[in-house]
Amino acid sequence: MAFSSQHGGNIIEAAAAMGVEADSLIDFSANINPLGMPDSLKRAITDNLALAERYPDVEYRALHQALAAYHQVPAQWVLAGNGETELIFNLVQQLSPRKALLLTPGFAEYRRALTRIGCEIVDFHLSEAQGWQPDESLLTVLTPELDCLFLCTPNNPTGLMPDSALLLAIAQRCRENHIALIMDEAFLDFLPQEPGLIPHLARFPQLYVLRSLTKFFAIAGLRLGYLVSADTATVGRIREQREPWTINAFAALAGEVILNDQAYIAASYRWLSAEQPRLFNGLNELAGIKAWPPRANYIFLRCDVNGLELQRALLEENILIRHCANYPGLDARYYRVAIKSPADNDRLLDALRRVLKYTDGADE
Ligand SMILES: Cc1ncc(COP(=O)(O)O)c(C=O)c1O
Repeated sequence: MAFSSQHGGNIIEAAAAMGVEADSLIDFSANINPLGMPDSLKRAITDNLALAERYPDVEYRALHQALAAYHQVPAQWVLAGNGETELIFNLVQQLSPRKALLLTPGFAEYRRALTRIGCEIVDFHLSEAQGWQPDESLLTVLTPELDCLFLCTPNNPTGLMPDSALLLAIAQRCRENHIALIMDEAFLDFLPQEPGLIPHLARFPQLYVLRSLTKFFAIAGLRLGYLVSADTATVGRIREQREPWTINAFAALAGEVILNDQAYIAASYRWLSAEQPRLFNGLNELAGIKAWPPRANYIFLRCDVNGLELQRALLEENILIRHCANYPGLDARYYRVAIKSPADNDRLLDALRRVLKYTDGADE
């Protein structure tokens, strides 16, 4: 049996099923920076506890200015949300596409948001034979009957980044065919060399870039994400029509503080540049495991040991990983693991060695 309904991070459910305390599990199922919340933010929150006593600015002016300055775009292009997830739903509702294309496997919330407004969904299957990456054949299916395309760069759960020339060709094709292109760059901050599509927004008025700050800055419980687009009419309508005050005062404060925390950002890159290849190599050395080279802070893998329920076996070792069987296009052989601290990554590798050693056919 597999735990994890739609998302990683469901340690409460997994712990309850195991009859153990949630705190006793090491959570490799949610992809959160192990450096934890930046100290600069902890200080800002404790110094400003009185913010909880009044309403935040309903326009979040200081927050939007900080985000706009960071990306060097006009403030009208930016809209913050209570996590990126809120903006996925707001944007889909505002654009109200009739027919959308989704790449599989992909993040579940696009489908939920589109289904909620009755949008027809066409799937474009990424295949293992093509390394789980889209290629030029995606361009040929971007026809005028489509209204909307979601892309996730780097993709979740595969952790792979499509070629940047292909991304621009897709944006071009979407512009020609009036297809709203929604780029989910939730994990892009983990790729210091990749600017993403925000620098190209002025050329593509139907391009919507979504960013999350919850993973890189480890504020998944505080929640903050944002939308950036040159389509100021759509951004403005969402701003006017949505519920007030969905971002709490501390999350708004976070957005003004963390992007300037260069020490935290540099320390995060140091951690990832060491642990990303180390965990990847460690996984690939295990007989029975095939891992794909990660670009972000998580690793997609296949377990080829017949009859082994890897998630269940690792739970016995107090480790929770993300089962990917419920992603359209994948099956029970696929899993995703977060890249965590050196000590936790060692625990994962040790536990995997134990689990695979006692499994027929895996170790020889
Ligand atoms: C690809 C992707 N996009 C967006 C989100 C949502 O991020 P947030 O926590 O900012 O709502 C997630 C969360 O797991 C994700 O994996």
